[in-house]
Order: sequence, then C-alpha cells, then structure tokens
Amino acid sequence: MSGVTTGEGGVTRSPSEAELEDMSQDELAQLASELDDVEVQHNAPKFPVPGTRAEKRAERGVAAWFGLSALAALCFVVAFIAWPHEYVPPSDPGYTMYSLYTPVVGVTFGLAVLSLGIGVIVYVKKFFPSEVSVQQRHDGPSDPVARKTVLAQLAAAGNDTTIARRSLIKRSAGAAAGLFGLGLGVAAIGPMIRNPWKDGPNSPLWVTGWKPENGETVFLRADTGELDDIRRVRPEDMEPGSMQTVFPFRESERGDEEALLHAQKASDAPVMLIRLRPGTQVVKRAGQEDFNYGDYYAFSKICTHLGCPTSLFQAQDNRILCPCHQSQFLATEYARPVFGPATRALPQLPITVDEQGYFVARSDFHEAVGPAFWERRS
Ligand code: FES
Repeated sequence: MSGVTTGEGGVTRSPSEAELEDMSQDELAQLASELDDVEVQHNAPKFPVPGTRAEKRAERGVAAWFGLSALAALCFVVAFIAWPHEYVPPSDPGYTMYSLYTPVVGVTFGLAVLSLGIGVIVYVKKFFPSEVSVQQRHDGPSDPVARKTVLAQLAAAGNDTTIARRSLIKRSAGAAAGLFGLGLGVAAIGPMIRNPWKDGPNSPLWVTGWKPENGETVFLRADTGELDDIRRVRPEDMEPGSMQTVFPFRESERGDEEALLHAQKASDAPVMLIRLRPGTQVVKRAGQEDFNYGDYYAFSKICTHLGCPTSLFQAQDNRILCPCHQSQFLATEYARPVFGPATRALPQLPITVDEQGYFVARSDFHEAVGPAFWERRS
C-alpha cells in the first residue's frame, strides 16, 4: 500500500492504527515526510553501484580517520596515566620528560577530537546521498502519528547513508568514540588515579617557591626583566604608596640559569610587595598580625577568581585591581575582595628584613595560592 493517505481535496489525513501497522519502514518514512510537509526534490546515492573500487577507497579513508582518532585517544589515556607528571626541577634528570607531559596530553587529546570530527565530516561528504528537500514551516508540537513515524524516518535516513553495511567504518568509529569516551572518563577521575595530596603538607598544591628549603633564606627579588640582574629588595627602595612585583631568590641559585628561570616562571611565585603610606589604618586577619613588616605588605599576585595577575595597585584607596574581571581587593584589610567576582582574599606572604636590611620571606604562604581551591580558609 502507499505510504500516503489522502482525504478529500488532496489533504493528508492521519492513517488508522491498523493502517500504520501494515506499513513497511519505507512507507512509514514516506508518510513521515508527507506529514511533515517535506517534499524530496532530488535524491541520488553517492555510490549507486555498490562495491566499486572508488567506494572501497572512500570507506578506507573514513576508517583511517577513525582509526587515527582511536590511536590518539589510546595514547592520551596511556600518557595521562603513565607519563611522568610530577614536578622535576630543571637541573634534575627527568625534567625533559616532565616538561613534555602537558604537550603530549594536549596533542593526543586534540588529535583524537580532530580526527574523530574529520572522520564524521568525510563520511557525510562521501556517503550521504545528494538530496534536496523542501519543508513547509509549521507551528506547535507534532501530533502522535508524526512522532511515531519520525522513528521510521530516522531509520530510513540511516539506510540512505549506507552505514548499516559498512562494518569497517562502524568498527573504527566505535573504537574511536569508545576510546575517546574512555579518555574523558579517565581525565574526569584523574585525581583518584593520581592523588595530588599524597605528599601530605608537601603536596605541590600546598607549596610554592617561597618555602625555605634546608634553612636557606628566601629573599624578595625585584622584577628587573634580566635573569642575571639580581636585585634584592630593601625597604628604602620603595616610595610610600607604591607597589612592585617580587620573586623568590636563594643565594644557591645565583648563576644557575634554570633555577632562576623557574623561580620567575612558576605560576604561584609572583608576589606584590606594597608599601602603604605612613599612618594608614589597617585591619589584620586573625593569626596573621605579624605577616607585614611595618608599612610593607606582601600578597600573592594570583587572583583568587580565575588566576590572572592582579597587577594594578591604586594608592589613593589602597585597592588592588585585577584587570581580567575587575575584582578589587583591599590592601589595608588583608587583601580581602571588596568588588567583583573573587570571593577569597589574596594569600599574604609573611615577610621581615634580615640583619643586612633585605626583605626575606619568613615562611611559605599559609594557604594555597590561586583560584577555586575549596580547602582554603578564606
Ligand atoms: S581573574 Fe581576577 S577577577 Fe577574574
């Protein structure tokens, strides 16, 4: 029977339940098109004669992209789990492998996504039939018959794409999608595989370059722009109401280019050293009353919102400004946020001046630096 049921005047009417049951998949799909007011004006398969060499070549091409995606996803999973990812100082063996961790994970993941996407696009271009259809526009939801026939329409569309008989493409696409999904799953449960807290208080997220090691003094070094131009900061170097960026420096690192570079490049290292004007009223956080040295206060430069450098200090009202999303922190009140999206204070570095008159860090930060860190106290 025909898939189209037409009433008086050529108006499409809904078929009865019995009529629907009698229809084949093709008739249901045709009915679905007509109920949706879709008129197929042109439909031609890309390979009208199955099994030609051109068709097989096209099939292998698609499968190659999916195969590449599966391979890249597998490499991503292996690299994510097994590649050395824990910090290795530049002077230690294993630094090269460690430094390649992020590129390897990024490249394999990116390649998996890219080749999966290209595989889908190539499949659509090579195997979907050339079709031109015109559909009239309707308002409101579909009626029950239309909802039932849409499944048949989808099945017919699947048949048109010839996917049902392309086992090579189905297998390679399944492998690519499966391994890609596995990669996403592994990344999602990554912290359960690689516990970032296994070193206890010395876990990397708790420790920065300001932590004194082996009793060695950590100085506040000015940002001169030159790795070898080491200027340790003294109180008289700064005007009242001024700010400068400082980095950690140890005498044992003098002449060690890689160590100096790391001290300046570590994302949690930059600190704002601020000299308030004399007589400025301040509010100190409980337990941090002696973190400052006179009018000098040192705060992490890493915004607690999303980690941008909070590089601007407004001396008129003692506000520290983050240029990314306009968070503002009050330097006179332990850098607590007073405007914008940041919700936590900038961690304060405890500082003092040694017997030679140079600023030194008394300890590491007492809380983790940076954004979105739920174990933080503020
Ligand atoms: S990163 Fe500083 S306000 Fe968003």
